[in-house]
Amino acid sequence: MDIKADNIKENEIKEEIKLDYISEIADGVFVLNTDNTTYAFRVMDDCKYLEHLYYGRKIHISSVDGLIEQHSFAPGNTTIYQSGSDAYTLEDVRLEMSCIGKGDIREPFLEAVLPDGSTSLDFQYESSSINKGKQELSTLPTAYDENEDAEQLIITMKDRNSDLSLKLLYCVFAKCDVITKSVIIENCGNENIRLTRLMSNQIDFDSQDFVFTCFKGAWTREMNRCDSLVNGGKIVNSSFTGTSSNRANPFVMLAEKNATETNGDCYGFNLIYSGNHYEAAEINGYGKTRFVQGINPQNFEFLLCPGDEFESPEAVMTYACGGYQGISLNMQSFVREHIVRGQHKRKERPVLLNSWEASYFDIDKAGLIKLAKEGKKLGIDLFVMDDGWFGQRNDDSHSLGDWEVNTKKLPGGLNPLVKEINDLGMEFGIWVEPEMINVNSELYEKHPEWVMDIPDKNHSEGRNQRILDLCNKDVQDYIIEAMTNVFSSANISYVKWDMNRIVSDYYSKSISKDRQKEVGHRYVLGLYRCMRELTKRFPEILFEGCASGGNRFDLGILCYFPQIWASDNTDAICRAEIQTNYSYGYPLSVISAHVSGVPNHQTLRKTPIETRFNVASFGLLGYECNFCELSKDDKDAIKEQIALYKKWRKVLQFGTFYRVKTFDADANQNQLQWIAVSDDKKQAVGCILQKLVVANWQYACFKARGLDENALYNFYSLDRKINIKEFGSLVNTVSPIHIKQDSLVHNVVSKFVSMDSAKEEHCMYGDELMYAGVKLKQAFSGTGYNDNVRYFQDFSSQMFFIEMCE
Ligand code: GLA
Repeated sequence: MDIKADNIKENEIKEEIKLDYISEIADGVFVLNTDNTTYAFRVMDDCKYLEHLYYGRKIHISSVDGLIEQHSFAPGNTTIYQSGSDAYTLEDVRLEMSCIGKGDIREPFLEAVLPDGSTSLDFQYESSSINKGKQELSTLPTAYDENEDAEQLIITMKDRNSDLSLKLLYCVFAKCDVITKSVIIENCGNENIRLTRLMSNQIDFDSQDFVFTCFKGAWTREMNRCDSLVNGGKIVNSSFTGTSSNRANPFVMLAEKNATETNGDCYGFNLIYSGNHYEAAEINGYGKTRFVQGINPQNFEFLLCPGDEFESPEAVMTYACGGYQGISLNMQSFVREHIVRGQHKRKERPVLLNSWEASYFDIDKAGLIKLAKEGKKLGIDLFVMDDGWFGQRNDDSHSLGDWEVNTKKLPGGLNPLVKEINDLGMEFGIWVEPEMINVNSELYEKHPEWVMDIPDKNHSEGRNQRILDLCNKDVQDYIIEAMTNVFSSANISYVKWDMNRIVSDYYSKSISKDRQKEVGHRYVLGLYRCMRELTKRFPEILFEGCASGGNRFDLGILCYFPQIWASDNTDAICRAEIQTNYSYGYPLSVISAHVSGVPNHQTLRKTPIETRFNVASFGLLGYECNFCELSKDDKDAIKEQIALYKKWRKVLQFGTFYRVKTFDADANQNQLQWIAVSDDKKQAVGCILQKLVVANWQYACFKARGLDENALYNFYSLDRKINIKEFGSLVNTVSPIHIKQDSLVHNVVSKFVSMDSAKEEHCMYGDELMYAGVKLKQAFSGTGYNDNVRYFQDFSSQMFFIEMCE
């Protein structure tokens, strides 16, 4: 029992308290505990609304009286719930869910148009049940209760103004300190009702001045952290792309004003949903903050015919008093344990080589085999053929929808190619974009009605393709069958499921015109059916989600696909920031990251191969460049990198990730430090990365996190050989003969002579490594160089390995 029974007045304890984490501690008072947090609410006496009491650090609750807001007279210029309820106004009560029309004028949880045209709703508490295990939603993916130890509270509410009935589902995942919430609304009457908004979560905090953090962006610029102080008005994070989007990820945070990475009250929220979402934080006139999250109400409506139910996506929330790091750790373990499922959940993921940036659409069997052979020599496990293999797909204007192999490019179809790759000792993976269609395709000729566009109206285009109408069951069936054919046509071990445009003209020809505002949500439901069916048919395939990079990086996708391509941007410096920011809400095991060529194809920046590897290693490592045209030095480096990654793969994929230092937090806004630590704390990998060199800045200290304070560890870095050409004409300070920079002699000498860079090696206690840190050897500062100096130039980085001494 987490609520200490001796702290609760005997007569307040209901006899049927039977579960560990959720209890009704007194009539109508519900307390949900996780290992380190408490959430509480109660049924209000006169109006039977649900008053939110507390969410935060774990507490004992002895007398609920002290947690209830005390009101004697409602403030002026407000409305009271009903005559006789003079003491309060709903505008200033913290509510678990709330509607318009009864005095509360804040962001509503739920809106509907009733048969008589009115919109005031008046939901009152009806009953509750507390269960072991979890009632799942029937239309949407939800958190996975693998060990069946989650506990669930279901509150039923009934609207006094209509025949709507509402179930609020609360589920406790105690070890991760996560509580999830979802809602099922049912029309129990005989007339149609229009649902115009249904959130998944509402929390009313009794304070203001929270910092609301969201992650904004665009293509190749995902996950920019934006912090806004909520001290008046309303701040909204939302997407309207039809996807969860790279514009605004559904993961957001609310933190007390002075919270830091490791200190302070922080709340993290996410939504198990891949469509348009909405998160808002609003201050009311009385200094309280309302947070809501759910499906974006913009252009949303759902017709509830008699007997119809509608489910809101499951919202995920966590609290930690240990700053942003605290909620990240909770979210990381929650996603690993309760979102990702299936055969690959705990399996180490293969190091892959993807053909996209090596050859784009210009692929054929001979070229692919050549690339794959190089990959094999360097240690690649899985060879992935990206776009360009089907129909007349020579650019992005053709053939989406025609999932037949182009036999000119791949004679004999997929099988001979896959067999050869398998014979080389590698697995084979393939790219598909099942939700899309080009007008230039046989599918379009056959089924123009399957496209999501508005008849007789001009259509807005994106990447020369249109979106298939996944609201239509025939289209879903077609996708399932077309993909089943592809996936079963050869020995395919991996599928990259792409989706490369955003929704413009929301319209489905398969549903009636009065239901067109259901399209956004119905599309997502159709998508989930396809994903559910195909992952069930092909459980052994490793699926990777992708939507022009991170345009659909969310928990809904992760319920089916264990990993997602985080961004089309493979520039190491941009990626370092993007991956840092994903880590606030997602674990390393879902973030796919590749080493690509230089100049980088998205930024034209040149970064060292060491840094490209170091950044991509903190996640699921792959390569995406032309291995056939690499220099020998690069090939040698990659071979070593892959071997190294495989040695540390478990820590780098499934370890707990800590942001030791972000660019923002560094004195020069320049340096970042990461560490990934194994579950048993016996192994860790750290990394330090610099954007631009700062003149005469010798000092750097690497601090670990997450280690066992009392254990002794070996901390070390690897040998780094620096090409002598990196020192330019300074070579003459050590050369007996004068060498002209970039001359033939310089080039020849550089083949045989390299410089050592400083190496670290210490034996230290966990607490020393974490709290004092390792003072790294000085960086080059223009006054001399030897093997005790760290070569640390623009975009340099270094990895550190930490192993517990036996
Ligand atoms: C998208 C993906 C890329 C690549 C191309 C292929 O842009 O994000 O990785 O697969 O499509 O067309």
